[in-house]
This record gives sequence, structure tokens and C-alpha cells, in this order.
Amino acid sequence: MRRAKISIIGAGNVGATTAHWCAAAELGDIVLLDIPQTEDMPKGKALDLMQSSPVMGFDSNIVGSTDYADTKGSDVVVITAGLPRKPGMSRDDLLATNAKIMTSVCQEIKKTSPQAVVIVVSNPLDAMVQRALQVTEFPSERVLGQAGVLDTARYRTFLAMELGVSVEDISALLMGGHGDTMVPIPSCTSVGGIPILQLIDPARLEEIVDRTRKGGAEIVGLLKTGSAYYAPAAATTQMVEAIVRDKKRLIPCAAYCDKEYGVGGYYVGVPVILGSAGVERVVELKLTAEETAAFQKSVASVHELVATMATLV
Ligand code: NAI
Ligand code: 2OP
Repeated sequence: MRRAKISIIGAGNVGATTAHWCAAAELGDIVLLDIPQTEDMPKGKALDLMQSSPVMGFDSNIVGSTDYADTKGSDVVVITAGLPRKPGMSRDDLLATNAKIMTSVCQEIKKTSPQAVVIVVSNPLDAMVQRALQVTEFPSERVLGQAGVLDTARYRTFLAMELGVSVEDISALLMGGHGDTMVPIPSCTSVGGIPILQLIDPARLEEIVDRTRKGGAEIVGLLKTGSAYYAPAAATTQMVEAIVRDKKRLIPCAAYCDKEYGVGGYYVGVPVILGSAGVERVVELKLTAEETAAFQKSVASVHELVATMATLV
């Protein structure tokens, strides 16, 4: 059977960690690419990862490169290229620089991997994925963003810590943009099938949601030199797996929504079915009036971000 080809653009913390987990799960052969100024760094990381394979017991070919020719014909392209946050910076502070990077990366992907499903990770996510769609001109189901799996994973972690139960028993959903306006959906949050509000009072749940919203900044504040990468890479790996193994996972992703939820042609975090074709369906939920208002507020902040990006580059 032909192995999937997975190219990861940006061989920094998130990119290299995603390569590690994709290889360990034998999701396919991997190309880890960075800019020429990094010289041999991607080659060094790829070779180091390859040398871990006899010990860890995985068969994946991992190549480091600064040349897009090596990414030719990829099935999945993950874009992590760009600057991460430093303490005191918001994701939006990265807008102008990362939009330029996203444009140049997507021009290359369009030429070398025209059939790929593209997963954008670079921040500010909701604007970067819109830029990726504009530049690649791929069908919107083949361009999506990673944020919801990460945000929901943080939420599930905090809920498990609060209740003293296994993270495996927590099912949850957050929607909206990847930022301070993300929207929890308590009716879709349960522990071993028990609705969350039977286990935690609403005020305490709101505190946990607030910590989740600020989850990225909490890690930036602790690391001081960059932003989170283990959980973001794990979240991205889950999306890659859903695509290359055609798993039809129902998970939250930044997906292009037009009529869906009345979003009107923007990317926003919504539950989707993810398989080999990319976003195979956006799942539309009946939201309460309160959830709808919070979701619309989040969509409005995405509109604002995309409008600002249009004025910058
Ligand atoms: P990093 O600084 O460790 O790595 C970024 C890499 O991108 C660097 O190696 C850099 O040389 C490379 N790069 C820059 N311009 C490039 C170009 N034109 N082509 C190819 N590579 C290029 O940063 P890290 O921690 O890996 O984060 C990467 C991005 O992902 C940041 O924008 C960060 O904010 C974002 N992020 C998003 C998350 C999400 O949930 N959506 C979670 C975590 C990070
Ligand atoms: C995060 O949420 C920085 O967006 C990244 O950790």
C-alpha cells in the first residue's frame, strides 16, 4: 500500500513535534521544511527523528529540506511556519508578519501539491487559514485550521483535573474563533455520559472555561521564550490521522462556513466530519440563545481580524 506523504512547513517547535508524533504513529512519510536561512536545521531534526525509529519501532521516512521540490505531491500539508507569541503578545500581534509568510508558503504549495489537504496552524489562526484559502484557491473543504482540537483538549484536561477523573471520560466541545471569544457548549460536555452541569456548578465551570480561553497565554507566560507545542502538535496529529486514515472523526476544526451557522464566508471553529477529502461536513447544532450570541460575538472578532489583515498585506 502506498504511504501517505505529509509535508510540514515550519520545522520549529510545533512542526518538529508534529513530525515526531506523525512518524511515531506511522501516518506516512514526512517532509519537514523550513526557510533556507535555517540552513541544515530541518535535515538535522529529520535525521535525528529517523534515528529514533529503530528504538521506538516505527517505519516512516523523514526528510528535512528547504526546497519545496521535496514536498511535491503531498497528500497533507501542515503549515506551522511563522512567529510564535512572546510574553505580552496576543495572537493578533503576529498578524502582519505571519500573513506575509502564509502567502509565500501557500504560493509554493499551490504549485507543488495541488491535491493536498492543507492544515493551517500558524497564528492568528482564523485569519491565516482564510489567507491560505485565498492564495491556494483550493476547494474550501481542503483548507482548514487547527485550533478546536487543542482548545477542547485543554478544556478536557482542566475538567479532568477538577473532577479527579480520567481525561478519557470527558467529552466536550468548544466553538468559535481561536482566541478569547471561544464558546463552550455545556450541552455537549459530559463525563462518562453525565452532563457536566450535574457535576460542577455553573460558576466554577465558567472559571474553567476562562482558564481554557487563556490556555495559550498561560503556557507562554511559563515558557517565556515561545508558545505551546506539545498539545498543539498532538491536536494537529489527530487531524492528520483523520485525513490519511479516512477516519471520519467528528472533531472541532476551523472550517470555512458560508451558510453554515450563518457565518457568511469565514473560518470559524465548528464541529466537522474529517476524512480523506478534508472537511466532509460541517455539523450544525441547535445552539441556545446564549450560545448563539456568544458564537456571533466570536464570529464578529474573526471578521475584524480578517478585515485588518486585508489592510496590512
Ligand atoms: P517556532 O518559532 O518554533 O517555529 C516556526 C518556524 O517557522 C521556524 O523554524 C521558522 O524558521 C519557520 N518559518 C518562518 N518563516 C517561514 C517560511 N516562510 N517558510 C517556512 N518556514 C518558515 O514557532 P512554533 O512554536 O512552532 O509556532 C509556529 C506557529 O504556530 C506560530 O505562529 C504559533 O503562534 C502557531 N501556533 C498555533 C497554535 C494553534 O492552536 N493554532 C498552537 C501553537 C502555535
Ligand atoms: C496556543 O493556543 C499559541 O495559539 C497557541 O497555545
